[in-house]
Order: sequence, then structure tokens, then C-alpha cells
Amino acid sequence: MSIGHPDVDLRSDTVTKPTDAMRAAMASAEVGDDVFGDDPTVITLERRAADLLGKEAGLFVASGTMGNLVSVMAHVPRGGEIIAPATSHVINDEAAGYAVVAGAGMVGIAEMSTGEMLVEDVADAIRDPDDPHCALTSLVIVENCHAHSMSRPITPDYMAQLRRALPDSLPIHVDGARLFNAAIALDVPVRELVQDADSATFCLSKGLATPVGSVVVGTRDFITRARRARKLLGGGMRQAGVLAAAGLVALAEADDGTVDRLAEDHVLARVLAEGLARQDGIVSPGHLAQPTTGALDPGRVATNFVLFAVEGGLDRRAAYLRALADQGVAMVAYPHGQVRAVTHLGIERADIERTIAASAQALAATRP
Ligand SMILES: Cc1ncc(COP(=O)(O)O)c(C=O)c1O
Repeated sequence: MSIGHPDVDLRSDTVTKPTDAMRAAMASAEVGDDVFGDDPTVITLERRAADLLGKEAGLFVASGTMGNLVSVMAHVPRGGEIIAPATSHVINDEAAGYAVVAGAGMVGIAEMSTGEMLVEDVADAIRDPDDPHCALTSLVIVENCHAHSMSRPITPDYMAQLRRALPDSLPIHVDGARLFNAAIALDVPVRELVQDADSATFCLSKGLATPVGSVVVGTRDFITRARRARKLLGGGMRQAGVLAAAGLVALAEADDGTVDRLAEDHVLARVLAEGLARQDGIVSPGHLAQPTTGALDPGRVATNFVLFAVEGGLDRRAAYLRALADQGVAMVAYPHGQVRAVTHLGIERADIERTIAASAQALAATRP
């Protein structure tokens, strides 16, 4: 939803603008035709991403959605079936690309409030490969951070348990759109978050603040298949080093497998939640983000998402969001009732204080 140019834009971390350092690197990037494999900056970014995530190879793609789709195409045969979290982005927010393009089926598993699927539920969802009635279970997807649970990070321990519960032949893909947020929240390098996965995607264009792009990583063979899939989708870009250069700037500080700056976003999200939780009319978002009812629990904020509900139904929620927008503060609503506020590069403590004050005013203006 476009709402012009709010002063404090908390709709998503995708609204970040490239830093001066990124713009400078983009302007002077060495480039070539990447479809011919000639773009040195893209090659460097792909290598850097693969090294950081502990995988053999990487592939620069246009978006997180494209990263997930080429991964599905590379892992899953037509008619194969995927197991993924029921509220995940890949099931709900990617225009069913897995079905439309890859010809795959999908089984959604209800998540716990941690954002994790019970490993037993995942194991139970695997079809009998000898039964001709069944689709062939071909991929398990984990979302890390898991957006609808208030963007909670998924731990390496969980990934290890999941890996142990599945046949070795069944690959795991991590939709790590916000994998670096998970890494800093858990204080582990990104490679540990995906060491039990066969492939992973992470976005450069969210908390890492580049204008465009994601990287997919996995084995060399997997990346060869994903590269073909990217071409099929029209995602073979030419002098893409202009974009990859910003990605290299974003990852410049990540030698230890984390990007420390993201911790600032997490602190501010917690401050925002604490301020909102004190306001009469702001309540628990319910469901995965906070399974208990009553007051918003700021303790649920583990990364840069604050999800909450506004008492009084959808009409009041819409009026609340309009009243915020009138004061220059933008948030978005999920269809099922929650409001989302996301902190990111460019949001400062003063913006959070202004948001808390604007929320108090919006609640007062819309009080039934
Ligand atoms: C969890 C998750 N996965 C994937 C994506 C897709 O990323 P993109 O918007 O770059 O296609 C998003 C985008 O918000 C996301 O939140």
C-alpha cells in the first residue's frame, strides 16, 4: 500500500534507501554481462554470500520471492510436494509461484508461537514414496526469522532436530529473508543457522538496506539448477554488478557472520513495543505473535517487528492507522487484524518517541 512519503515509515524494512557508501560503490562498480558469467562484482557477491553461509556457491537474484522460487524449481520435480509453515511467506505471499510455475503441491503445517513447526508434524506430513496415490515429498521450507510470530529467530538447535527427524534425501530450504536479523538476535553466525539446510535465501533489500536483491546459496549442482530456473523466469540480469556492489557494502562488516547494526533496530523495536504496551487500546496481536490475550507483551519482540492489535474492531483499526498517517507515521495492517511496525536503518530513537506519542493521540481520537 502506497501512502506517499511519511516522516516515520514503519511499514517494512524494505523501505530503506541505499546509504551514501552503497551509492558510491554502485557508481564505480566494475561490471560485465552476468548472463555470460562476466560480471566480477556479482561473482564477488555470490562468493562472499556462499562463504558467509558456509555453502559451495551462490546466485544473485532480483528478490526474496525469486530466491524461494528458483530454490523450489531446483529442488522439486513437477508434481512434487513441499512442506512449509502455514503462515509462511512462500505459501501466502508469493502468488503461489510454487504451484503456478514449479507445478508443486504444498502442505502447510501450523506453527507454534516460536514460529517453528513441530518436527513430529513435519515428519508425519511426509508421504509414503511407495504409494502411487501420493505426491512425492520433495522439500521442507523453514522461515527464519518467522514473520508472523513477531519475526522470531529460529535456532540452530531446532534446525538440527528437524534435520535428524527427516530422511537424508529430503532437502531443507531456509527462507532467510531476515537471516541476519536472526543471527544477531541469537548471537550466532549466519552459517550456523543454515548448516543443517541444503539451501537458503537471504534478502539484501530489507534490514541490510540495499535497493534490490537477494542471494541464494547451496551446493554447486543446486546453484547450477537454480541459475537455469532464474533464466527461465527472466531473472538473468546483465550488468547487475551495479546492484551487487550495494550488497557487498551491506556485507562488508559481516566477517564474523553477523551485521551488528541490526541490533540497533531490535532495541528500537523493543522500545516501541514497551511504549505501545502502556497505551489503553493497544492489545495482544493474538495467534502466533502472542498466543495469550490481554496486554501487548514487549518480551515477544526478538528482532525488528512489533505486531499488535487495536481494540475495537477493524473500523477503529483503520481509523487509528489514518490518524497515525495524518501525523506522518506509517504502519501496515495484516488482513487478519494485526498491525505491523518494523524498525530499520534510518529510524532513530526520536522517531520511535514520535510514534509512541502519535499512537496515544490516534487512540484518543478514535476512542469509541
Ligand atoms: C519471510 C519473507 N520471505 C520472502 C520475502 C520476499 O522478499 P521480496 O519482497 O524481496 O520478494 C519476504 C518479503 O517481505 C519475507 O518477509
